[in-house]
Amino acid sequence: MLQIRNAADILKGGGLVAFPTETVYGLGADALRPEAAKKIYAAKGRPSDNPLIIHIAEFEALFRIVKEIPPQARLLADAFWPGPLTMIFQKSEIVPYETTGGLDTVAVRMPDHPAALALIRESGGYIAAPSANTSGRPSPTLAEHVAEDLDGRIPLILDGGAVGIGIESTIIDLSCMSKTADGEWIADEIPLVLRPGYITREMLAEVIGTVGDDPGLADENAHPKAPGMKYRHYAPKAEMIIVSGEREDVIRRINELAEENCQRGEKTGVICTEETKEQYRADFIRSTGSRSDEGSIARHLYAVLREMDTLGADRIYSENFSALRIGNAVMNRLLKAAGHHVVEV
Ligand code: TXA
Ligand code: MG
Repeated sequence: MLQIRNAADILKGGGLVAFPTETVYGLGADALRPEAAKKIYAAKGRPSDNPLIIHIAEFEALFRIVKEIPPQARLLADAFWPGPLTMIFQKSEIVPYETTGGLDTVAVRMPDHPAALALIRESGGYIAAPSANTSGRPSPTLAEHVAEDLDGRIPLILDGGAVGIGIESTIIDLSCMSKTADGEWIADEIPLVLRPGYITREMLAEVIGTVGDDPGLADENAHPKAPGMKYRHYAPKAEMIIVSGEREDVIRRINELAEENCQRGEKTGVICTEETKEQYRADFIRSTGSRSDEGSIARHLYAVLREMDTLGADRIYSENFSALRIGNAVMNRLLKAAGHHVVEV
């Protein structure tokens, strides 16, 4: 509790604190103070047009920071908050443009983590927080990852151990909803998922009806609606390639490629699963989890990407994963890490 109070004092003084959430570690600042939010961009080396998510601890906290609350927000909050879902709304006046990257909309989430909720409550109710990595690196899933990237740049890292989910929250855009003069809600378009995560489009649709996917997710050349999704995120230093196809073909092809790299004097990393890890011959072989438990793959993916960097692989090959449930979010992050470089076998 003392740690939380120290952290809250730093935030109230306009400083930065890294803290655990259930998805990934966040780098927090007081969301309603422009100069505090600006420090986040400096510490991460983040482009200033990439907006931050505001973290709240009570549904009622929404009233101050959004213009109006569409009915879907209540339904989704009842179903998924606290939890790994971020909703986008029209912002109110008090939210500074430094927090929203110059946009008139604001992203809000209520994390499902006791330390995060306690910190939000102690520090005034509104913490702006992106993932606590330096820009372009995989999001941190351990306090040690935060230290790797940000040690010396921030005064405090709250250590909550390993996160539970390991991949950033699902983002749904509700800013398409507006209220008419006679108080009726109308939708300019259907709500879209801007970033896939643990909460799938199907789970959202069960609660509020039709939900779409931002076309920018599937088409690497389309313009994504979440500014952050356009950057080559989660990028390991090595060249990364996803090898996709029948399991046995994938293993055979990756082993061939590893052999060719070896002859050229290059080091190969392989990202695979518990089920296949014994079948590879390469310099660095890392399992991210078991195919019988998709959650385990999500939980370890970023740590494995970070490890590949420190091992010094020249090329990384990854198996492809089923795009079902959280597997869809795993593939979304892997495709970004690989710059959409996929080899079909
Ligand atoms: O799980 C999470 O969401 C983690 C934890 C710390 O809460 N946070 C996180 O933040 O992933 P960050 O900054 O790494 O990703 C936020 C994403 C970016 O892609 C950003 O462009 C998008 O949300 N975003 C934020 N505000 C937005 C807005 N008003 N309109 C569209 N996209 C927005
Ligand atoms: Mg991030």
